[in-house]
Amino acid sequence: MSQETLSNLLKENRRFAPPQELAAAANVKADAYDEAAADRLGFWARQAERLSWAKPWEQVLDWSNPPFAKWFVGGELNAAYNCVDRHVEAGLGDRVAYHWEGEPGDTRTLTYADLQREVNKAANALLELGVRKGDRVAIYLPMIPELPISMLACARIGATHSVVFGGFSADALRTRIDDAQAKVVITADGGYRRGKPSALKATVDEAVKDTPSVEKVLVVRRTGEEVAWHERDLWWHEAVDRQSDRHEARPHDAEHPLFILYTSGTTGKPKGILHTTGGYLTQVAYTHWAVFDLKPESDVYWCSADIGWVTGHSYIVYGPLANAATSVLYEGTPDTPHRGRWWEIIAKYKVTIFYTAPTAIRTFMKWGEDIPAKYDLSSLRIIGSVGEPINPEAYVWYRHHIGADRCPVVDTWWQTETGAIMISPLPGVTEGKPGAAMHPLPGVVADVVDDTGTPVPNGGGGFLVLKEPWPAMLRTIWGDDERYVKTYWSRFEGMYFAGDGAKRDEDGDIWLLGRVDDVMLVSGHNISTTEVESALVSHPKVAEAAVTGATDPVTGQAIVAFVIPRGAAETEAEGEEFVKELRDHVAKTLGPIAKPRQILVVPELPKTRSGKIMRRLLRDVAEHRSLGDVTTLTDSSVMDLIAAKLPSAKPED
Ligand code: WT7
Repeated sequence: MSQETLSNLLKENRRFAPPQELAAAANVKADAYDEAAADRLGFWARQAERLSWAKPWEQVLDWSNPPFAKWFVGGELNAAYNCVDRHVEAGLGDRVAYHWEGEPGDTRTLTYADLQREVNKAANALLELGVRKGDRVAIYLPMIPELPISMLACARIGATHSVVFGGFSADALRTRIDDAQAKVVITADGGYRRGKPSALKATVDEAVKDTPSVEKVLVVRRTGEEVAWHERDLWWHEAVDRQSDRHEARPHDAEHPLFILYTSGTTGKPKGILHTTGGYLTQVAYTHWAVFDLKPESDVYWCSADIGWVTGHSYIVYGPLANAATSVLYEGTPDTPHRGRWWEIIAKYKVTIFYTAPTAIRTFMKWGEDIPAKYDLSSLRIIGSVGEPINPEAYVWYRHHIGADRCPVVDTWWQTETGAIMISPLPGVTEGKPGAAMHPLPGVVADVVDDTGTPVPNGGGGFLVLKEPWPAMLRTIWGDDERYVKTYWSRFEGMYFAGDGAKRDEDGDIWLLGRVDDVMLVSGHNISTTEVESALVSHPKVAEAAVTGATDPVTGQAIVAFVIPRGAAETEAEGEEFVKELRDHVAKTLGPIAKPRQILVVPELPKTRSGKIMRRLLRDVAEHRSLGDVTTLTDSSVMDLIAAKLPSAKPED
């Protein structure tokens, strides 16, 4: 075992101070850190005051039975009331909640008053179908307004929703419905993806063949495509539209289960991450307001994630709505009907805050900066990133080509399990550093520790941990308390272990270095995939890179890199010269220890449906093994293309 836990190789000297005007008017100033540090629970109690409580809480946090937390004990509130009704009561009924844009270009505008009527009708319909407080409802919908409406209708009546991403297979859907014992499934005939209607109802039909808990399937008509029909099926426009648009929201306990969201573990059955009401809503509302400096009366906010992931739950639905924000909701893909679609949407709605993922940013880099340059993006003032480490070069590209060197970039670290943003710059306070998530937010206690749980000094690498409970934390894994304790709270005594590698740089700022399962052990050094990938992406001819450690007789593991060239460099990328140039570039940037043994130029990388690179599969290819589970890949044919570049490896799936 090496001395250092994780190497710190990448140095970054660029700094971007917050624009003066933004800093002067920022929602959160530097004093928030001290305020929260002086009295963390008092700080969260003040943030909970953003919400409207039917009954005040008696205790901010009950941590007497760790790791099972209770926040705002004894308090009662209704999440849907907080996201919708109270804004209407406050006179904001005419404010737009969602500018919805369908992929084919059709649009719908929902004001808060519209949303209230729609949510009430859906709540009444669910009640008519026999759904009661505490029941689970599975939601398998495209990115259409009925998706947030369904979630809020569930929240309103106290049913726990389980949204399953529309790209998942019948098998994945069945497992999730079964695990939660969902009583009703809400779906659609289909949705539009890449210019075509994609079927959803057929997948649900397949899944519910073997799910005895499901009594009814409620179907939204979106595409008008023909669907098979069964006795348990009901059309949304028949069951919901005729309902009264009034429904009185009753308060629920602060710890009432709001939703379950499944995360696919690397092995075994998916984990149903359970989130509850009061703490979750408090932290998503606070972070959405603080990290994006939200001015609800003037901002137009767009998060490009799918609501099927936690990013969409927290930062398309609950956070923005709790804050009475105006958001854009887009159904489709970034390249339909053309590669400028997202920028066209930003220009059309004059989006001021934009939140997306590094995988998308690197795709835009690959497509070339001339595409966003054709659109007026001058409305933007803050741009965010989430989902993976953002490579410094991708950060700088994003800041320059999308943010016009004017918008702060907020690199936000969090997880399905944390429920809300935990580590991020504050746009009016933090001097941005490309690639670094910087500091835990006020009220959050995070650290980087070594194997023994001891904090690493500045300049050191190790494991990211959370040292104090936080309001939006998961409460357990649905139906499996033991797995909850084992997965998250057993690696380090009294600390939550997130599964991510991280480092503290010379200034004490935090960098995320990827999943610890991906770390490579090269000649006794633990090297993070993120740092080598970032070094590769910092070469002007590289748009995207993925690295993995392959068994090597000399060094234990050797670094194998897969790179996608940037638009203009595609033609020269085939030759040996190019590969040599890249290997030398990595050695120069990070040191000779990080020089890849092998670099393969590939057309695509294997990614999960949420856009994360699947390095495990690349390791299989690099080690000439047959491929492991490819079911979570967006497109499994990618692996054939990659294997073809490595002559002696062939996928045997
Ligand atoms: C994992 C959680 C959080 C919402 C979307 C993903 C990685 C997430 C960052 C970031 C570096 C990041 C981590 C984390 N991750 N954000 N800003 N920098 N890594 O939710 O699917 O639960 O994934 O995504 O590895 O553990 P998720």
